[in-house]
Amino acid sequence: MKQRENFSSKLGIIVATAGSALGLGNIYRFPCEAGANGGGAFLIVYLIVALLVGTPLMISEFIIGRRSKSNPIGAFRILSGKHNAWPVVGYLGVLCAFLILAFYTTVAGWTLGYLGKSIAGHFTGQDLGQIQQQFTDFTNHPWWPLVCQVIFLALTAFVVARGVKDGIERFSKILMPLLLVIMVVLCINSLTLSGAADGLRFFFHPDFSKITGRVLISALGQSFFSLSIGMGALITYGSYISRKDNMTSSAISVVLADSLVAVLAGIIIFPAAFTFGIQPEAGASLAFTTLPMVFQQMTGGYFFCLIFFLLLVIATLTSTISLLEVIVAAMTEEFKFTRPKAAVIGALGTAVIGILATISFRTGSPLHINGQTVFDLLDHVTALYFMPIGGLLIVLFVGWKMKRTDVLDELTNGGTLRQGIRMAIHYLIRYLCPVAIIVIFISQLVR
Ligand code: PFF
Repeated sequence: MKQRENFSSKLGIIVATAGSALGLGNIYRFPCEAGANGGGAFLIVYLIVALLVGTPLMISEFIIGRRSKSNPIGAFRILSGKHNAWPVVGYLGVLCAFLILAFYTTVAGWTLGYLGKSIAGHFTGQDLGQIQQQFTDFTNHPWWPLVCQVIFLALTAFVVARGVKDGIERFSKILMPLLLVIMVVLCINSLTLSGAADGLRFFFHPDFSKITGRVLISALGQSFFSLSIGMGALITYGSYISRKDNMTSSAISVVLADSLVAVLAGIIIFPAAFTFGIQPEAGASLAFTTLPMVFQQMTGGYFFCLIFFLLLVIATLTSTISLLEVIVAAMTEEFKFTRPKAAVIGALGTAVIGILATISFRTGSPLHINGQTVFDLLDHVTALYFMPIGGLLIVLFVGWKMKRTDVLDELTNGGTLRQGIRMAIHYLIRYLCPVAIIVIFISQLVR
């Protein structure tokens, strides 16, 4: 039997999965999507989908990963028997990871640039107009965003080349508690701002008339993106989970922690946006203009700003590691590359598309396809199509293709864990998840 790395402990899976889940999805993309899709209406759909569809889907990925002990492509081949189309789901997942990593590293580069700016004190004494200008200047700069993106990819490749267990567990264990602490401090600060009541009303008060097909699919896409599900990242991590670990409780812990961090991000950003006169629909610039304004008016703002962007860089790194790991696990196991070689080739490939995404973000850039920047196109295609379709196929596979006894064996660790809640999860995987994903997916098409 080939020797595979395992995470070292139960905390190991939670920490590594949370490391993958927590990142720009929570702090940058979630407020951006909530702002553009009606605030409270989006939040409620998001939370329901994350808990009722996201949790069973995450567990399904763990089941496929641990049962097959393989990357997403190999996993479907091993579990489905030979000569059928299921491995295509694995290929789609690897492609999706690649496309996400490309535009994700654009924003990852910005976080690195903003860490540099916070060290240099660029936000001190600036008004809103100047901070907005800094975002425009930075993202339009001919080479800074590219340099930052490439450094970020190189860091990711370095960690992945050294192996999963070492890199990810070590980073994530220190990061998460710190991130939580600083976010709670920032929340308390935001609640004291003059626009707090308006911001909280926007974020927490659901106007149900705003729930459209677009809001539903955006919330589904965002929850899959934020939980790193629907494309095989957690199949890959599941393959490193040992037989003794409790996948159900680990998945529930990660979903709760991830949702908590997203909600905290909303509590930080919306009151501040309403206070400083920033539009919640501002899009990509929302977090990058609101947060520096927040630090501006805080006592000790320089220090908080620096720590925050440092933690954000690390949180982002643990997510990019999990994305590159999908590609590298597939290349080493399916195509027999060595780990370092696969990491370098994966990163170089990503850099090509990623650089196009970064350049397309510049004002007036001709890099548009179908009226969208390459950056937006990659974001939309993955969150609105790849991940929902991948997620659907994954739950159909576990719910309908795999033997029920095998699934229950995985869920109960060979009968050693109690069945009750696990039977319920099997039902969610079999019925609720596919129906919910199909209904939401169709609702966006019929407008
Ligand atoms: N979940 C990450 C975030 O919220 O930032 C992004 C991500 C990581 C998506 C890994 C998908 C993935 F496989």
